[in-house]
Amino acid sequence: MARTQSRFVCQSCGAAVLRWEGQCRTCGEWNTLVETVVHDAPRPRPAAARAGSAPVALARADNATDEVRRPVGIGELDRVLGGGLVAGSVVLLGGEPGIGKSTLLLQVAAGVATGVVNATGVRIPPATVLYATGEESVRQVRLRAARLGLTEGPVGEAVSVVAETGVGRIVDLARAERPGLLVVDSVQTVASEELDGPPGSVGQVREATLRLMELAKSDGIPVVLVGHVTKDGTLAGPKTLEHLVDVVLSVEGDRTGGLRLLRATKNRYGSTEEVGVFEMGDRGLAEVADPARAFLAEHDAPAPGSVVAPILEGSRPLLVEVQALVAPTAAPTPRRTASGVDQNRLALLVAVLGRRAGIGLSGHDVYANLAGGLSVTEPGLDLPLALALASSLRDRPLVTGTVAIGEVGLLGELRSVGGLDRRLREAARLGFTRAIVPRSSRGRPAAPAGIEVVVVGSLAEAIRVALAEPASASRRGT
Ligand code: TYD
Ligand code: MG
Repeated sequence: MARTQSRFVCQSCGAAVLRWEGQCRTCGEWNTLVETVVHDAPRPRPAAARAGSAPVALARADNATDEVRRPVGIGELDRVLGGGLVAGSVVLLGGEPGIGKSTLLLQVAAGVATGVVNATGVRIPPATVLYATGEESVRQVRLRAARLGLTEGPVGEAVSVVAETGVGRIVDLARAERPGLLVVDSVQTVASEELDGPPGSVGQVREATLRLMELAKSDGIPVVLVGHVTKDGTLAGPKTLEHLVDVVLSVEGDRTGGLRLLRATKNRYGSTEEVGVFEMGDRGLAEVADPARAFLAEHDAPAPGSVVAPILEGSRPLLVEVQALVAPTAAPTPRRTASGVDQNRLALLVAVLGRRAGIGLSGHDVYANLAGGLSVTEPGLDLPLALALASSLRDRPLVTGTVAIGEVGLLGELRSVGGLDRRLREAARLGFTRAIVPRSSRGRPAAPAGIEVVVVGSLAEAIRVALAEPASASRRGT
């Protein structure tokens, strides 16, 4: 093996020095030096790169050699992956601690060890799984597996666990055992013997990922890495990790509640549009029977400040409940607290409501969130959020059975959203009877049976309709 040494390489200008320094002497940037392995002799190139090195005309590029996919046997996850794990791919699974990453991966391991039938009806035979844990002991993993009922039978035999943090050793083990799937839990706990930095440092995380990618590409073994997410929602370690790997998945949800949303934020082998919905129960993560309804909170009666919105997550319609609370305050700078919705959007809506719709909130603290710990960025959430704020201020619930969707502009005008038909159909299916939607240049949306579509032109009008206020009421204060 080639002798290796480490250098500290500036991520901004590429200069390399022997010792870590806070500032790069060449370009003057701060905190850009990352420990990197330097090889005396070039590394052997992965087989995939060698084989693919002759150019092929696009017209003849072979689509029969489409990636070999292995469904993991969990429908919601396979959907998000775009049909299953691709041979030789590296997947990064991110999420907050305790959200259920290790649980999900044990269930994936069980699926791989059981064998499944893929989308075209071909039976994918069972394969072994190597689960490298740097976070927990083998005993802890075993206890979790026992809880999931996975220690018995063929699965118990096919999944092997190793408590190992040396990436070189994990790669050697995988080369020797040739598992159908390698899980590394987590990338922040593994380290390369060739670097001095502690596990979890930028240099270590990147080097470990590179080594595991080399393994994946050269031996065709799919690798799933667990990555921790920091408080601000980014994957800990360098952003470069996300660029390196083929697929980035994230598990979201409120840890105290049961629901989990699985999203692909990057997918070289499929769309990043699909989401999977799970519920954490006594025996791990279970797929949710009716995801569209999963995120709706349960109330006996309509509550002021609550508005249901038919959103689209990729191609999947979900009904979510936007909740707002406004409370008078004497503080000079009132609070604007958002969770699951965009903080800036909330501030903007508060301003538009005040100037364009007579809903003055300058003397109120404002809190907004989505039920179920969901986090949504779609612009169509503007109108439901604005209505929730108005409803809370007036202390008046929306008319029973109402949903609302639409984008709000700075002038208090409303804009329609894409996929309205699908959203309305789903709302109707779940028993909603009235939808407030913006007027659209494309004409009146078709109303599915059972739901009355109320088209509105402005935010002020939407509020009047939603709260069933007489026309004069919402002009109060303007
Ligand atoms: P875990 O998979 O360890 O999370 P992560 O790897 O993302 O840190 O999940 C931990 C939580 O899930 C823990 O609070 C216990 C809960 N849990 C269940 O509710 N049911 C189960 O069957 C299992 C295995 C865990
Ligand atoms: Mg874990």
